[in-house]
Amino acid sequence: MSSIVWRIEHFEVVDSTNTWLAERALEGAPEGLVAVADFQSAGRGRLDRRWESPPRASLLCSILLRPDVAPDQLQLVVACVALAARAALVRLCGVRPALKWPNDLIVGDAKIAGLLAEIVSVDERLAVVVGIGVNLTHEGPADVVSTSVRAESGVTITPPALLDIVLEELEARRALIDSVEGQATLREEYRRALVTLGQLVRVERTSDVIVGFAESVDHFGQLIVKVNGEEFTISAGDVVHVRAHEGETS
Ligand code: BTN
Repeated sequence: MSSIVWRIEHFEVVDSTNTWLAERALEGAPEGLVAVADFQSAGRGRLDRRWESPPRASLLCSILLRPDVAPDQLQLVVACVALAARAALVRLCGVRPALKWPNDLIVGDAKIAGLLAEIVSVDERLAVVVGIGVNLTHEGPADVVSTSVRAESGVTITPPALLDIVLEELEARRALIDSVEGQATLREEYRRALVTLGQLVRVERTSDVIVGFAESVDHFGQLIVKVNGEEFTISAGDVVHVRAHEGETS
């Protein structure tokens, strides 16, 4: 595959870079279109949450990818971006976040970045908007244990500087999606980064909560959790690493 041409649209203010980019994707925008904003007035997080950050305190961006894979491989596509963001942080400031399933970047137990992926169309090829918010100087919402690049490293990185390196790191990983061998390499990088595996976890799903051991991730990126000998396959939900939260009362 030839290398991606990134085209970056910058906004001082936008409702949500994901929303803007999804509209462009529906109009047929090519892979490689990127939206980045200083501020979002209606930033969105996973599970219908809001995602808020003061102006220029976070990298707030969305990336349009059109990989030639089935929709059930969405998690692999998102993992590419999560791993690229992680590698970029290592390069720029020596912070090495781990991944918490499915795609949160965490340092210790604190969230430093989150991803929101949305499938826009599956007509000819899967079109996916992957949004990422990285806390640079803002430490995230009060109700989530979170941190920032500056708090972890003392380094103040600007959003454009981080975006440049994320896209550089993403380019190589995006190419891996085009081959079976490349996909295996990506899955391996994802599993190595995924600190959730082997942990006692509490999974908060829309319908219930289960507690068990996170055993593995399957070919589709779903988390396999063992509860009293029975395996549960988790495709969506919030995961809490129980040991890290043992002292908490709620
Ligand atoms: C999460 O809940 O962890 C995911 C957060 C994703 C936030 C980013 S910020 C840029 C992009 N635009 C949005 O509205 N959301 C994503």
